[in-house]
Amino acid sequence: MQVLQRMADIGGHKFTIREQLIGGASIDATGEPLPADTVKSCLASDAVMLGAVGGPKWSDPNAAVRPEQGLLRLRAELEVFANLRPVKIFDDMADASPLKRELLVGVDLLVVRELTGGIYFGEKSRSATSASDLCIYEAFEIERIVRVAGRLASARRGKLCSVDKANVLETSRLWRDIASRVTREEFPELQVEHLLVDAAAMHLLSRPADFDVIVTENMFGDILTDEASMLAGSLGMLPSASLGEQSRGLYEPIHGSAPDIAGRGIANPCGMIASTALLLRHSLNLSEEAAQIEQALERTIRDGYRTADIAAGGSAVDTTEMTAAVIRHLD
Ligand code: IPM
Ligand code: MG
Repeated sequence: MQVLQRMADIGGHKFTIREQLIGGASIDATGEPLPADTVKSCLASDAVMLGAVGGPKWSDPNAAVRPEQGLLRLRAELEVFANLRPVKIFDDMADASPLKRELLVGVDLLVVRELTGGIYFGEKSRSATSASDLCIYEAFEIERIVRVAGRLASARRGKLCSVDKANVLETSRLWRDIASRVTREEFPELQVEHLLVDAAAMHLLSRPADFDVIVTENMFGDILTDEASMLAGSLGMLPSASLGEQSRGLYEPIHGSAPDIAGRGIANPCGMIASTALLLRHSLNLSEEAAQIEQALERTIRDGYRTADIAAGGSAVDTTEMTAAVIRHLD
């Protein structure tokens, strides 16, 4: 919020910001993970900035009410079916990644994760001895996400990789049929590749720089982006934008609430700050301002500022100092 506010001052913009509850804080205050007021306020806004949900206090797997339900419902209410998760390696950060430096040269990929369908939203059941989660994909859901990914790939390096599990899952066979047809008919200029998700998980580590845009279903995208974050050195680095048919979007870092370091002031704010840049670009049509935040972030890293998760054993600054450094570079 500090970075966003500073950018508003510099650019002469005025943002009206309202804060609303979601997740654990909301369960504590209201008993629900996503109160009607929050939904109403989000639907009436141009963009929604989201802090991570969840924590040990609310993580009893048998609880009827869980923080994550709030997040999933908010994504559904806002109809933000396209989750963009860019993975870019900052020049001086190769040491923060557990991967060999030479593998990371030129890594610049974008995962487009389907966000409002699949196994996350299918009917669930549970008895004492069995459980089920239904995975359903409708053709239109696949078509629209492949189109988003196709458009983005056309504006980047022209490569699109669709990830599924078509050797086992019926939903994946439909996914592959539709991804093939949409790309053939609407994006003939793209270089298209289809990978099974297990192979994709391996290729992300063996040849990460080959990928440009990856499009995949909800759960595969969840898993692959945590893996991909290690290319960038830390889960704390990656931003995300969740978009629908309108310009209104939901912006959140891909990391969770990191309960293991809660209260110590050492969380990496980079993913959240980079998410504010995506917000300015995609929902407020302020691309110049977005680029300025991204450049400030990049220069802050280049000048050697590191939070503990990316310090690779070197000296680290805390969340407040990291944020202040980004703001100084913005100025
Ligand atoms: C993410 C998170 C969420 C997800 C959780 C918190 C429900 O892991 O945004 O990647 O699985 O979508
Ligand atoms: Mg996740």
